[in-house]
Amino acid sequence: RARVAAWKREGLRVGFVPTMGNLHAGHHSLVKLAREHADKVVASVFVNPTQFGPNEDFARYPRTPEADAAGLADAGCELLWMPTVDAMYPYGANGAVHMRVPGVTEVLEGAHRPGHFDGVATVVARLFHQVQPDVAAFGRKDYQQLAVIRYMVRDLAFPIELLAGETLREPDGLAMSSRNQYLSAEERPRATLIHRTLLAMREGVATGRPRAEVEAQAGADLAAGGFEVDYAVVRAPDLSEPGDAPGPRVALIAARLGRTRLIDNLEFDVPFTG
Ligand code: PAF
Repeated sequence: RARVAAWKREGLRVGFVPTMGNLHAGHHSLVKLAREHADKVVASVFVNPTQFGPNEDFARYPRTPEADAAGLADAGCELLWMPTVDAMYPYGANGAVHMRVPGVTEVLEGAHRPGHFDGVATVVARLFHQVQPDVAAFGRKDYQQLAVIRYMVRDLAFPIELLAGETLREPDGLAMSSRNQYLSAEERPRATLIHRTLLAMREGVATGRPRAEVEAQAGADLAAGGFEVDYAVVRAPDLSEPGDAPGPRVALIAARLGRTRLIDNLEFDVPFTG
């Protein structure tokens, strides 16, 4: 806070990239994006216990602080905040004041991971108070998380401009994610089916196939590829069920391959064909 306050006294604009560490090129691209909109960039690394369910991967989530610090410095980050759980939750995770964002948290990821977005909103609000940035960058890969944070920032009037960074992909289309390293050598090439299915969903909807049929086909294709599917859907940008009119859409998938749960999405337009 002292460093950020000093920068602000000099009239500098401060950007912020919150992360859970184990950083890859996708995170580095968020630092670069923040850098384009700010004079100084702060990043945080904190594996947030309140956003993991009891049977999720909090304990085994990969922690690589030295590599993270080096990569952030190379990407142009000036300040790294790595709080302890005690610093973040002085009354403990159970005694913490909790955020609850209504509506957008109740579907898709929110329905499959109860409490997850409450934990995300809780920690992001705290990080925003601690860091006090002018601008903050989040990845589009976590499409619904971005919607939750947008809602919270607007509703609580955080004086912070939000930036959305593009999803970075491996050459074979797999979206970059810290969880990709859980995939076995045999699973890794099969994981590309998620992106291929998103492309097929876009093609299906954009060429006029009924949405229900496209979603059912996507679910069946993923299941045939060995995935356990949580959802494979096409939604309006606010995640409501879209009508038949042309306009923007997002295809979203969450599916498990072995022990690894992967999410991805693809934004596209249904063109006006009149
Ligand atoms: O996207 C993430 O890495 C986390 O959900 C975030 C935003 C850093 C909150 O812990």
